Amino acid sequence: CRLVVLISGSGSNLQAIIDACARGEIKAEIAAVISNKADAYGLERAKNAGIQTRVLSHKDFDSREAYDAELMDIIDNFEPNLVVLAGFMRILTPSLVQKFKGKMLNIHPSLLPKYQGLNTHQRAIDAKDDVHGVSVHFVTEELDGGPVVLQAKVPVLENDTAETLAQRVHQQEHIIYPLVVKWFSEQRLKMEADYAVFDEKKL
Ligand code: GRF
Repeated sequence: CRLVVLISGSGSNLQAIIDACARGEIKAEIAAVISNKADAYGLERAKNAGIQTRVLSHKDFDSREAYDAELMDIIDNFEPNLVVLAGFMRILTPSLVQKFKGKMLNIHPSLLPKYQGLNTHQRAIDAKDDVHGVSVHFVTEELDGGPVVLQAKVPVLENDTAETLAQRVHQQEHIIYPLVVKWFSEQRLKMEADYAVFDEKKL
C-alpha cells in the first residue's frame, strides 16, 4: 500500500503513522508528505524518516481550483492507494474530493457529527459536554461530513482548558488513526455508497 500524507502543522499524527509503519504494524510505504506550509514541523519528521516532501503554498495560487489542480497532480505522481489528511488545514474542492473518493481519510477532533469545523475543544467546553473525542472518517464533499470509520471518546474534566482537552484527544488520535490506516491498507475497510464498510472475510 502506498500512502501520501497531507499536513499543515506539527504532524504528530503523521509521526504516529510513520512509527506504525516502521514497527511493521502498518504494511505500507509513505511515498510522500505534502504541506501547504513551508514551516510545518511535520516536514522535519518526514525528512528524519527518509520520506520525500513537497511544499505547495496556497499563497502562490489565485484560486482554490488552481491550487487543488496542482495538488492533485503532485499527489497523483506518487500513485498512492490512500491519501491521509493529517491536520491539513485546507478546504478541498469537489473535483479533488471526487478524484480520491473512497481513497482519502481525515481525522477530526470531535465526536462527529458534533462540532464540524474549527475550535472543537473550546466548543465542547463551552457547551459543558462531559464527553468529547475524535473521529476518523472518509472524505466526501461535505466538510467533516463523510462516513465515520472510528471514534475515540475522552472525558471533559472540570478544570479543562482547550489545551488540556486537546492533549487528551491527541493521545487517542495517535492510536486510532494508525489503526484505521492499517485496516484500509489490508483492504479490510472501504467506502461504499457513503458508508464505511468492513470486510468480514478479512477480519
Ligand atoms: C489534530 O488535532 C487533528 O485532529 C486535526 O489537526 C490536528 C493535527 O495535529 N485535524 P498534528 O499536526 O497531527 O499534530
